[in-house]
Amino acid sequence: MSSPKQVNAPNAPSSLDIFSPNLFKGKVVFATGGGSGIGKHVVETMMRHGVDAVIIGRKTDRLTQAANELEAATGRKCIPATADVRDPKSIQAAAKLAVDKLGRIDFVICGAAGNFLAPLSHLSENAFKTVMEIDTLGTFNTFKATIPYVRQTHGAYIHFSATLHYQGSVYQAHVSAAKAGVDALSNVIAIEEGPYGVRSNVIAPGPIGGTPGMDRLSSLDDPSARKIRIPLGRMGEKADIANAAVFLFSNGAAHVTGQILVVDGGAQHTYSGMGVFPYPESVLEFEKIKKLVPRL
Ligand code: HXC
Repeated sequence: MSSPKQVNAPNAPSSLDIFSPNLFKGKVVFATGGGSGIGKHVVETMMRHGVDAVIIGRKTDRLTQAANELEAATGRKCIPATADVRDPKSIQAAAKLAVDKLGRIDFVICGAAGNFLAPLSHLSENAFKTVMEIDTLGTFNTFKATIPYVRQTHGAYIHFSATLHYQGSVYQAHVSAAKAGVDALSNVIAIEEGPYGVRSNVIAPGPIGGTPGMDRLSSLDDPSARKIRIPLGRMGEKADIANAAVFLFSNGAAHVTGQILVVDGGAQHTYSGMGVFPYPESVLEFEKIKKLVPRL
């Protein structure tokens, strides 16, 4: 018998082949981290289904350019709002801007995140605090700023988390701790806001190709790094995450809340999971590879 070959999952289909182009007509999405990477792709996909958007980020120039690109690609409105999720006042102002300009907030994407590779013993107190503040406190601040509006529309939240914290992931203690907090917050939002008709879910992406973060990690030439194992045979695509988000925001998920949807081709169930450096011995190699980890 000839050796069996890996059967890879088909590439992610366009959401327009699955969902109606008018699915989100008349709705507004408020997206932190919506100006780049996976967040931007999810916003673009939702705009192709009729939503207008407010994207939130710290860098005005990059955000304005992203908003222009999103409008040009989809023909929908996209408003850039400069804010730092760590600063409650700035995120409250962004939420107010969204309602002043677009009249409502139906959907909230909490996608702002901080990440870099470092062993726990190398992290300064401020480095740990910074990631906790962007990811976990930022989720809280975004919730507080938007919930009065989201209750009015009986809307929904999607929080972008990770699978890093399901096992230990070396160099990612700070991110793992922060994302565990994000998962917990989403579950409580689901319980406490369910009676107001508001849903809250988490998407936990596995390794997604073509993002700045993954490109950075893949560029590391660490001999002890173990390859990520993905049972479905291919890296995730941004469209895989966007399709999951469109489903979770749609009425198709009307009875789905307090869930964590892992989109990772099954990688979480393998030993290597999301951890790019799962071997304990790679900790001892950190000094060697540190110079390869570019600071952003
Ligand atoms: C160690 C670092 C560091 C690094 C920053 N710090 N980069 N420590 N190694 N590579 C420390 C700084 O020295 C400082 O501590 C503290 O962190 C704050 O750094 P600042 O640069 O002053 O903060 P700020 O300008 O707010 O930037 C925060 C940041 C940001 C987190 C460092 O650059 C960032 O968000 N970058 C990554 C964005 C990103 O990739 N997002 C995608 C996330 S994907 P001291 O003590 O010196 O003051 C994701 C999914 C997870 O999260 C799954 C992926 C595997």
